[in-house]
Amino acid sequence: MDFILKHQSFLIGNYASPALEIVRGQGSYLWDSQGKKYLDFTSGIAVTNLGHSHPEWIKQVQSQAEVLAHCSNLYSIPEQVRLAERLVGKIGPGKILFCNSGAEANEALIKLSRLHGDQGETKRTKILVAKNGFHGRTLGALSATESSKYRNGFEPLLPGFVFCKLNELSDFENAIDDETVAILVESIQGEGGLHVASDSFLQGIEKLCQKNNLLFLMDEVQAGIARTGEFLGFQKSGVKPDAIAMAKGLGGGFPIGAIWVEDSRTTLFTPGSHGTTFGGSPLACSAAHAVLDVIEKEDLTARAKHLGNFLLQEIQQLAEKFPQQILEVRGRGLMLGIQLTDEPSELVSILRENGLLAVGAAGQTLRLLPPLTISQDEIEEALNILRLSLSALEQKKIVP
Ligand SMILES: Cc1ncc(COP(=O)(O)O)c(C=O)c1O
Repeated sequence: MDFILKHQSFLIGNYASPALEIVRGQGSYLWDSQGKKYLDFTSGIAVTNLGHSHPEWIKQVQSQAEVLAHCSNLYSIPEQVRLAERLVGKIGPGKILFCNSGAEANEALIKLSRLHGDQGETKRTKILVAKNGFHGRTLGALSATESSKYRNGFEPLLPGFVFCKLNELSDFENAIDDETVAILVESIQGEGGLHVASDSFLQGIEKLCQKNNLLFLMDEVQAGIARTGEFLGFQKSGVKPDAIAMAKGLGGGFPIGAIWVEDSRTTLFTPGSHGTTFGGSPLACSAAHAVLDVIEKEDLTARAKHLGNFLLQEIQQLAEKFPQQILEVRGRGLMLGIQLTDEPSELVSILRENGLLAVGAAGQTLRLLPPLTISQDEIEEALNILRLSLSALEQKKIVP
């Protein structure tokens, strides 16, 4: 294929060779350069939560681009202040710091815990994180990520991260010592294979943090922004973290990240202690405002819960029909994972041939991340393709 050769000639090979050249998106669909249409159950990995080219998103980004795209954080930016106010309204009393990506948001959480750990007689720097978690590719966020798949070649990384088993509170409790300063977890592990942190686990983590003066940090980069049927995934558990990382879906396709910090911790960062050129630019904030407007107007949070339940039940029925291929279905809302008996790559390519885009995750998991604007008919269409593709894969295995 022409595009692959050209791609490989000019782009560094840090991603696997691409199977498609994507040129256009509309609603729940993407088109490749050959004119073939695909139902997009990746949403750019939990980014385009409004689907592609949502008219409200286009309108707001276009009109902001005509007024002011960027002016730096040397100045107060009204769209940024208003966005911070809206996020605080959805999360709770606190303040916001803007950045550009999920990794960068987690870097800010790590730096926040450094500042928190520097207040007593001894400096505390250890952060407990969940095994199988994923927090990003920058060196700090990578240090918080256990998998050798991401770490290989980049060690030595930042010291002080201790990996404990998700949903095993005693594992976290036993790892706490005099140097521990924070606990960082995802409410649903996205890259790690759609493992859900249970309500009782998160409630236990909250108590451990209170008892030991640790910061309770949530990484909501993938599970956040209405995807799981709550604005942020942990909100179902009723816990109150000290700080939260967000990105991906917040801009609906325009890069923006943010951390929310609980009111009593907001003075840890002081003027000059942290910053980034592009964080919370007027243009990025206009995209996020459009995302929040549509989430509110179209009640996408309730839709994610309702349609996610339907999709989950239907896939559970498929699991009964294809026990040789499906071991388990996990997740919440429109963030679902199908644990397969084999690596997901073959199924991903059959699905693609049949017009459905999905993405793999760790532990032989197929990840389904449709836009939150998806219709019932489009979900039925995806289920048909999934059924057809599982049958085709089964045939292939019987007659190799
Ligand atoms: C939970 C989580 N945290 C952080 C990141 C890193 O985000 P980014 O790729 O925007 O740096 C990701 C990306 O997949 C993620 O899923």
